[in-house]
Amino acid sequence: MPAIRRYAVCGLSARGLASFVLPILGLTDRTDRTAEGGFGYGSDEDDLSGYAEVVAIVDTDADRVTEFNRSLEALGRAPIPFFAEYEEMLKTVVPDAVIVTSPDHTHEQYIHGALRHDIDVITEKPMVTTAAAAREVLAAERASGGSVQVTHNLRYAAAHREVKRLIQAGTIGRVARVVMDYHVDLRHGASYFLRWNRRRALSGGLQVHKSSHHFDLLNWWIGETPEELFGYGALNYYGPSSPHRAQRAEDPYFLAQQGSGVFPDEDSAPRADLFGLHYPDQYPADRPLYIYDAEIDIEDTYSAVARYPGGAILSYSIDFSSTWEGFRLSIAGTHGSIDLLHGRTVDGAALPGSDRITVAELFGPTRVVEVTAEAGGHGGADPLMRHDLFAGPSPESVALGLMATSTEAAYAVAMGDALIQSSTTHRPVNLPHLLA
Ligand SMILES: NC(=O)c1ccc[n+]([C@@H]2O[C@H](COP(=O)([O-])OP(=O)(O)OC[C@H]3O[C@@H](n4cnc5c(N)ncnc54)[C@H](O)[C@@H]3O)[C@@H](O)[C@H]2O)c1
Repeated sequence: MPAIRRYAVCGLSARGLASFVLPILGLTDRTDRTAEGGFGYGSDEDDLSGYAEVVAIVDTDADRVTEFNRSLEALGRAPIPFFAEYEEMLKTVVPDAVIVTSPDHTHEQYIHGALRHDIDVITEKPMVTTAAAAREVLAAERASGGSVQVTHNLRYAAAHREVKRLIQAGTIGRVARVVMDYHVDLRHGASYFLRWNRRRALSGGLQVHKSSHHFDLLNWWIGETPEELFGYGALNYYGPSSPHRAQRAEDPYFLAQQGSGVFPDEDSAPRADLFGLHYPDQYPADRPLYIYDAEIDIEDTYSAVARYPGGAILSYSIDFSSTWEGFRLSIAGTHGSIDLLHGRTVDGAALPGSDRITVAELFGPTRVVEVTAEAGGHGGADPLMRHDLFAGPSPESVALGLMATSTEAAYAVAMGDALIQSSTTHRPVNLPHLLA
């Protein structure tokens, strides 16, 4: 058996619980979730307790951690030591690594703190919220004995790995043109405007918070990071000027999500995550958030064009109030093309033709590759990524370069930041300069 590594978790978030804390605790039986006071997530194969243990939780919300620890005790488990002070935790617990799953703007402080002590970091995407902060992390990592790994899990989805394999095998020649038309459905999209993500200071804006996922995936497929990016963005659907703004009872977004659990049923209801764990500090019941609030300062619609050193041109576009969720992807190479639709309706039904990769040789045949999603979070991506992080990279992972490096993650952040900057200045942004 490998040695069990000791991890401290910064931010007891929904993502932190689902993706790290519960698998590491071995609480992987979904039926636990319905048991009184119980938590459970994932599948049996996803039990990481043989590789890792959680030795500390750092969070700004002591009550949320107490509620979690009580649930653990109800399951006959020991509570996890809680620290409000990060530095104190690092000095007293001395973990082997920290897992950063707090809101995006806080990643920076946790990454730097760990690197100062030569401690390894696994951080959720986006690595940080600005290109300047990404540059600082890369410099700190160079000076530290610790390393930074970023959880760009989207690479691991079965269809995405297949696209990478096809490009890597030279099936379509050199990539010349990529178009990604991304849609976030009106329930999922609205949910960003009900949470901390809606403030640029906390998330970097959706260009960084959400699209860093897509930019990383696109760069990985293309096999390069871009030189220059130009973009536009706007707030069309949410915020105080929304054309749909209405009282909750008549609000089309509220009506469209009823029964799905995306919006809290009432303004004053205490907010909880998918495990029923509350957020008294982050979302106090007396300060309800709604999708038309004036404090919303991010865009919900944007497009970018980017140029890569090898000659590829990217065209990327997204909105957060669509009638479907997913994307159309078209990759044209010097010797052929790859086309993929990955999409579902708001209610979750797969769109016709979804998850079939069409591979056309320029002067040859066309074939269709059917892709089946695997079990586990994000179409089976999360368990594979966790295996790489905790047990070590699989041969496939090494062959495809599945694990995102900190430099790749920095580019994904910088592209989002460049898109925001370009939308304001109406000028293209040079990405290597932004990170130099
Ligand atoms: N890779 C993915 O697919 C994926 C999916 C969802 C979220 N995420 C990322 O995971 C992270 C968490 O997102 P979420 O929506 O699950 O969060 P969340 O809103 O569910 O929870 C945030 C937690 O952080 C705590 N917190 C707030 N400020 C803090 C601070 N300064 N220090 C420590 N803790 C603090 C809150 O009390 C809360 O417990 C984000 O970085 C997000 O971008 C990634």
